[in-house]
Amino acid sequence: MANAARVVRSRSDSPSLARKGVREANLSPVLSLVEREKERVLSALRQLIAIPSISTKPENRKEVERCAEWLATHLSDIGMTNSRIVRTAGHPVVTGEWRDDQRKPELLVYGHYDVQPPEPLELWSTPPFEATIRDNRIYGRGTTDDKGQFFIHLKAIEAYLRGAGTLPVHVKVILEGEEEIGSPHLGKFLAENKEWLRSDVAVISDTPFFAPGVPSICYGLRGNVYMEVEVVGPHQDLHSGSHGGAVHNPIQVLAEIIAQLHDHDGRITIPGFYDDVRPLSTRERKSFRQLPWSDARYARELGVRKLYGERGFTTLERLWARPTLDCHGIWGGFTSPGSKTVIPSKAVAKISMRIVPDQRPEHIAKLFTTHAQKLCPQTARVSVKCLHTGEAALVPLQSPGVEAAAVAMTKSFGKKPVYQREGGSIPIITSLKRMLGIDTVLLGFGLPDENAHAPNEFLDLGNFFGGILAAIHFYDELSRRIERKGE
Ligand code: BES
Ligand code: ZN
Repeated sequence: MANAARVVRSRSDSPSLARKGVREANLSPVLSLVEREKERVLSALRQLIAIPSISTKPENRKEVERCAEWLATHLSDIGMTNSRIVRTAGHPVVTGEWRDDQRKPELLVYGHYDVQPPEPLELWSTPPFEATIRDNRIYGRGTTDDKGQFFIHLKAIEAYLRGAGTLPVHVKVILEGEEEIGSPHLGKFLAENKEWLRSDVAVISDTPFFAPGVPSICYGLRGNVYMEVEVVGPHQDLHSGSHGGAVHNPIQVLAEIIAQLHDHDGRITIPGFYDDVRPLSTRERKSFRQLPWSDARYARELGVRKLYGERGFTTLERLWARPTLDCHGIWGGFTSPGSKTVIPSKAVAKISMRIVPDQRPEHIAKLFTTHAQKLCPQTARVSVKCLHTGEAALVPLQSPGVEAAAVAMTKSFGKKPVYQREGGSIPIITSLKRMLGIDTVLLGFGLPDENAHAPNEFLDLGNFFGGILAAIHFYDELSRRIERKGE
């Protein structure tokens, strides 16, 4: 934290600003609009949450489409122009823009309107697609990940256009419908819209604060390589009394394969898996250690007796900068209530690996496949599919975008942000950098305990409205830090 604070202090009185004689803009008409419009804003957010845009479920395709339509209309309603639904081979991308004829920095705002499945439904206190407010939180699927968070930008844009009649930056908004399934068609969309997308900086609000009351700017995310493993034994289910003792049960084979993927030090056993991992610098390890963190408290919050992970690394190092492997689901045989004595014909598992900078996703997928095949005994057959891959991302901290974000966070939340990495993945970040040369600022307003991907997902309303104010300041700060095009 001390480190982060030092970085901000050295930047806050940037000489280039003084040189240009840029003065503080009067934002009060814009900021006060947010205060006055809270109820209206929440009722629009409720409508957005009510649409079950679950990208992974084929049966929800129409709902995903309906969500895209709702958003395209909403972008027009808030004063953006050219709002469009861009078709892809999968779910659509919604785009909109606002510009005037002045020279202003170009800002790209990205969010994703698709959400994770809400199951198990019985664990929700209130229905996932009926946004409910209690304890100054809004509950519902997508509230923090990511509908509620990108909505912050739409409301900041709306407040500018209604309160000031203008924006200090030119804005392009892209809202993706496939982030939660690995953004399979985003590369093509980016390639086909390169010219339109050209921007000075991108901003994404889809990450959490370090802790409640501790705003943060995230500068690194892990990538993801998602696999499906199927073990096949006999060509059909068998009576376990007649055949048990003669065949290797595919569930057992699969369990044995999975059990061998980690060693006793919590390291992944796939040969070559760690070869390209970029080691953490002493400086970064030190900066992680300066963040206020307690393993015991974290374990208590999660309800586990003890934490687990790769030996030799702290928890934050393991979460943010070390690769990991997790099984997300495993099935086979008889899982209904009651009993059935069967040796199933097959068993399946979904397994993904979070990867870190310098690990190559396709290479990791190959290493995994080869290893799973090697681990499969002669008594069964294994087939491995790769569902999607995405690279890890690191964004530069020494940039006008991050500088603007830090000042904006401080102005809105009264506290300088800490700089941190995160363990989740947002595939677009590396694509924007590689394909368009655009750096991203990760200006997130979630909280770490908001149950993203789990039952009872929520978004803290203090952070939501504070986030709108921060976004307003961010655009303003950005406009005074980035050279206007052509100047
Ligand atoms: N908002 C998350 C990314 C995230 C999670 C950032 C945790 C920081 C902390 C995002 O919507 C997400 O869940 N992404 C998926 C992407 C994957 C399917 C490629 C993820 O991380 O599982
Ligand atoms: Zn997510």
